[in-house]
Amino acid sequence: MEARASERGSYRFPPGFQRNLLWYAFRKFRPANPIFLFQHLAETYGDIAHYKLGHNHIVFLNHPDYIREVLVVQNDNFIKERTVQRSKMLLGEGMITSEGVTHRAQRVAAQPAFHRQRIVQYADVIVEEASRMRDSWHAGEQRDIAIDMMHLTLQIVARTLFATDLRFEVCELAAAINRIMGLYNFLVMLPAAEWLVHLRPPGLAAFVRARKRIDAVVYRMIDAHVKSGRDSGSLLDLMIASSPPGDEEARQSLRDQVITIFLAGYETVANAMSWTWYLLSQNLECERQFHKEIDSVLNGKLPAFEDVARLRYTESVMAESLRLYPPAWAMGRYARNDFELGNYFLPARTTVLISQFVTHRDPRYFADPLRFDPDRFSEASTTARRTKFIYFPFGAGPRQCIGESFAWMEGTLILATIAEKWKLRLAPGHRVEPQPLITLRPKFGMRMQVESR
Ligand code: HEM
Repeated sequence: MEARASERGSYRFPPGFQRNLLWYAFRKFRPANPIFLFQHLAETYGDIAHYKLGHNHIVFLNHPDYIREVLVVQNDNFIKERTVQRSKMLLGEGMITSEGVTHRAQRVAAQPAFHRQRIVQYADVIVEEASRMRDSWHAGEQRDIAIDMMHLTLQIVARTLFATDLRFEVCELAAAINRIMGLYNFLVMLPAAEWLVHLRPPGLAAFVRARKRIDAVVYRMIDAHVKSGRDSGSLLDLMIASSPPGDEEARQSLRDQVITIFLAGYETVANAMSWTWYLLSQNLECERQFHKEIDSVLNGKLPAFEDVARLRYTESVMAESLRLYPPAWAMGRYARNDFELGNYFLPARTTVLISQFVTHRDPRYFADPLRFDPDRFSEASTTARRTKFIYFPFGAGPRQCIGESFAWMEGTLILATIAEKWKLRLAPGHRVEPQPLITLRPKFGMRMQVESR
């Protein structure tokens, strides 16, 4: 398509909305659900679309070449966009929000905790926690599986990466984080929200309270580790070792790093699990095959690390679930300098948006895209998983998810441990709707009935 005449000098903008998004927002789109907006842009304009929001230029990408260009080739020209900057209210300067040398130093310090040899040791804890949960369930009961999965993955992150048992705090912590997520949409839309948080106007008091509760748990964990003087080689020990001792700034920075990994490492996996249980309950033939594999690989025993490589179909089930309901459903970047993208030339301060949810459901890349079909990810299949930038649930480039291998192993082990004993059925009449917050959550939770296998 022809580039529109540039507004300033030599810029060449992609096709897109002629009017400011604010104009459309009140007529056509529910601003609270950006997925509708992105889907509309992809359907109407194809690979790349441009619009303005206030004075800001925004481009939405839905083509692997453009996506690669921004996440990998021209990565140096981009920082995280506004929504991420806003999440500093909660996350501070941790690995997700930091940039440049700070980011690099944090990533290097944390890396050993995510090495292959290291994550092997996490498998036992994952299975122990998942089997404790499965043994506490009763046949015939209804549960909100989304909450169960949150508690499970929170406890797993705490024990594996931070060598801390949060069993007694897990509900409190999850509730405080939930409170923040509930306020999140509201907060990121507010002008000057970061500033308002410090003034504590009424509606935001709940945010501050919840953040204090989270901070208290995190500081307790850090202090206990520092005091013990013991180095168990956990991620927390690595973070403490790479942080200058003593002053308040260093303490705050440690808090930011810890809370970032907590949030990044549990919300995403919990949501991936909830969506997977839902998809299995709706696709009984796939569920049958999934059970068959688990029974033949495990033979009545609990899974162990060595089983992960043999639970191929289980991993494909998770992969297909991450395609249809990617917990990280969109990513954004903000251009430092003017840049070229294909035939277009765009100004500094343009926001670039990419959505896994939209690209993963594009029929050009995935035939019959709404069908749940784990075989797309089988060894024999030549598409999907191996084609980066059309399937990228963990992002790509230098900021690609540091926890990817951990997440595959954790997900596979949780699914196998629980499905060995139970199958889950959606509670009659329960509404299922994805809600795009920081992660893609089931808006009304996931009420399911527990049935013996
Ligand atoms: C299914 C589970 C997960 C999904 C879908 C997921 C997805 C992602 C994505 C898409 C990014 C890149 C964001 C961007 O470039 O803007 C990311 C970054 C990150 N993830 Fe994950 N993640 C998962 C699990 C985990 C786990 C288990 C951990 C840690 C225990 C983790 C820690 C992180 C961190 C620290 C970053 C920031 C990396 C950086 O900027 O250098 N994630 N994740």
